[in-house]
Amino acid sequence: MQEIKVELTKNPKEKPAPGAPLPFGTIFTDHMFIMDYDLGQGWHDPRIVPYGPIEMEPSAMCLHYGQSVFEGMKAYRAVDGRILLFRPDKNMARLNVSNDRLCIPQIDEKFAEKAIEKLVSIDRDWVPSGEGASLYIRPFIIGVDPHVGVHPAHHLMFMVICCPVGAYYPEGLNPVKIYVEKNYVRAVRGGMGYTKTAGNYAASLKAQDEAEKQDYTQVLWLDGVERKYIEEVGTMNVFFVIDDEVVTPELQGSILSGITRMSCIDMMRHWGMKVTERKISIDEVARAAQEGRLKEAFGSGTAAVISPIGHLKWGDVVMEINKGEIGPVSQKLYDTLTGIQWGKVKDEFGWTV
Ligand code: COI
Repeated sequence: MQEIKVELTKNPKEKPAPGAPLPFGTIFTDHMFIMDYDLGQGWHDPRIVPYGPIEMEPSAMCLHYGQSVFEGMKAYRAVDGRILLFRPDKNMARLNVSNDRLCIPQIDEKFAEKAIEKLVSIDRDWVPSGEGASLYIRPFIIGVDPHVGVHPAHHLMFMVICCPVGAYYPEGLNPVKIYVEKNYVRAVRGGMGYTKTAGNYAASLKAQDEAEKQDYTQVLWLDGVERKYIEEVGTMNVFFVIDDEVVTPELQGSILSGITRMSCIDMMRHWGMKVTERKISIDEVARAAQEGRLKEAFGSGTAAVISPIGHLKWGDVVMEINKGEIGPVSQKLYDTLTGIQWGKVKDEFGWTV
């Protein structure tokens, strides 16, 4: 394995006071990880250096054509003082899936995991200890060749930055208001929806902006072809509890394979619940709601963990789900997952590192 050089900061920043608000993704730790790629040389010069601006030319390819992929993961301060990562191997494996789609050279997943562990260890005092707080870790790769021709980059940078965060939604685990998006689509099969690439999130901004202006938290995305089947909610995967079945859209190319999604599926199956990954249409959900069979709906993601949907609007149809309250499945998933992540609940799955 390559040696990771470390240059510690000479000007450590002031850390947020215990209990101070930690708005998502706005405060950064003292250090960051960088590694370069050059054609013919491969990935080289891994280093941990003080967090700060990087230099690139205005012609850097990522600024023009979005050859940029990222991951989102967290470090948690466990009740016994250990710092835990949650399934980091899954994040690194998914990063390589995204890399493949965007013609970015594969990274050594084990090495990247070790680099993240080392970075978090150096910045361990930045891992917050407040209720629901954690250190959000953002690995990302960008193509930086100074070249405005359209082709895969030959010089890239793999970086990791970290930020202490509180709960993602200021509302916390309170159920959110969502409407079904009719004008925009997030991704299509054959596109990049199954990857974590900057462009997917750029494509989602307009819908999110319009939703917020109408006092909704996010939108429910339908498929881009028939505008019929449910795909994701905001930046999260989505689940519906209908009668005694938990349904989540199957991964068919335009949906991100969420690590929280797969963990929820594993946990619910372990508890003996019926979980089905299949196509689910908005008609089916509306019908189930009308017949009183739609018990719960919720999103799952690294940032917010579980986000119950209390109010779902589809044109003129308004569904109040579980009377706008948190349902038992959402609550149990949230408690167990966060319990494992903060070391409060026995990790019988072996997910924490
Ligand atoms: C998540 O739910 O973890 C996300 O993907 C949100 C992130 C892009 C901030």
